[in-house]
Amino acid sequence: MSFLQVLRKTSGIVLRKSLTNYAPTTVTVHQRRQKSTHTLAKEVSDSVVEALTSVVGAKNVSTALPVREQHGRDESHHICTPPDAVVWPQSTEQVSQVARICYDNSIPMIPFGTGTGLEGGAVGYKGGVTINLTKMDEIVELNAEDFDVTVQPGVTRETLNNYIKDQGLWFPIDPGAHASVCGMCATSASGTNAVRYGTMRENVMNLEVVLADGTILHTSGPGKRSRKTSAGYNLTNLFVGSEGTLGIITKATVRLYGIPESMMSAVCSFETVHSAVDTVTQVMQCGIPMARIEFLDDVMIDACNKFSNLSHKVTPTLFLEFHGAQEAVKAQVELVEELAHMNGGSEFQWAEKQEDRNKLWKARHNCWYATLALRPGTRGYSTDVCVPISKLPDIIVATKEDIINSSIVGTLTGHVGDGNFHAVMLFDPNVPEEFEQIQAIAANVNRRAIAVGGTCTGEHGIGLGKKELLIEELGDGAMMVMRQLKATLDPKGLMNPGKVFLN
Ligand code: LAC
Ligand code: ZN
Repeated sequence: MSFLQVLRKTSGIVLRKSLTNYAPTTVTVHQRRQKSTHTLAKEVSDSVVEALTSVVGAKNVSTALPVREQHGRDESHHICTPPDAVVWPQSTEQVSQVARICYDNSIPMIPFGTGTGLEGGAVGYKGGVTINLTKMDEIVELNAEDFDVTVQPGVTRETLNNYIKDQGLWFPIDPGAHASVCGMCATSASGTNAVRYGTMRENVMNLEVVLADGTILHTSGPGKRSRKTSAGYNLTNLFVGSEGTLGIITKATVRLYGIPESMMSAVCSFETVHSAVDTVTQVMQCGIPMARIEFLDDVMIDACNKFSNLSHKVTPTLFLEFHGAQEAVKAQVELVEELAHMNGGSEFQWAEKQEDRNKLWKARHNCWYATLALRPGTRGYSTDVCVPISKLPDIIVATKEDIINSSIVGTLTGHVGDGNFHAVMLFDPNVPEEFEQIQAIAANVNRRAIAVGGTCTGEHGIGLGKKELLIEELGDGAMMVMRQLKATLDPKGLMNPGKVFLN
């Protein structure tokens, strides 16, 4: 039901529902600590474990190796580096007390959500205590008439959308994983709908954050949720994209949108990568307000056909979506069809029924997993550059050529309306030459992007893998200020150490 239909039926009723507990429960047996093979910055002593236990309870602390290993990896290519202990706090107050214990004992802290990151941002790189926030899973306050909601860190985007859809509302950011909203704040996630609705940077209104020493703060002030503000520094966006290196996000207030009156999805095939991407550039340059405009190369389409049971022509393809009032959508469609035809695109295949639309976008949502399924047993490595839109065709074509000239199986997919795309490449961890080839391709794409005024990461973050590139991209001045901010908020360097900064 669109927001307009809901408005017609109701008059702005705000509902509050209690959530069913959807979070997977992790068995946390307090076992004798087993040492991992990595070098610990600082061991978590038995007395620290006892102190943590007194805050969160025995069943919410674990030092068992399998549990630590589970928290030593995300979905990226980075190797598993487990923390020394994992805790599951159930309130902001408990997070604050846990942080205070770690601070007093100089122990690293790593915030952990769903573990779906792609740059190693949540792994226990230097040991320490991982703070798993999934048990804090309440939708704290929904203000349907103001289009905002405040959630705790265990709430995923799917849970949120299921909760609000009956009111004609949705939260559009979809990074292609079952990510938590607060985790998405931490990495400044975006994904398929960002071209129309913006990234997390444009959609977060307020954050509750616990600093390394246990201080609790609200980046826009307690309870504030105005649509705009000129009040002081933009602390909210200091923490959006900070990847756990400045504090632990314990609540996020984000914008919601009305489900549009009309949504139409289409698929269009092209003869060449260049013609598909040229179409995107022209659509964006004409100012057409696309809701989604996603590029998938032939290998990616083949992977989606197999993984998601589709039957699209195996050729460079655009997945498109239009949102708005019916007349406006019709006009947008005509214009985009004309541009696509000018570039040799096929007739649009429409996914009109809700179920067909869902199938199409679920297939896009699962691109990462579809790519992994092309070579079972291998691991995936994703690049994530974002460039000014006019520079997009050349860099995508050059990246495709690099992959063709290697022995690597790799797909290209991208949120091309934003100038953001991924080369997802597969390697066998037992074949070092494969990883070396991927590193060379990734280095090319990253340096090309930076050279044309782009960034090495549009949405996955710096994490472990892009620390040198960050320096190259930002230059000395910005890096110096970032380091000074880090030193001010985290003077002991305990917040997610080893990430974002080279040392
Ligand atoms: C996606 C991830 C790889 O776009 O960012 O599916
Ligand atoms: Zn993406």
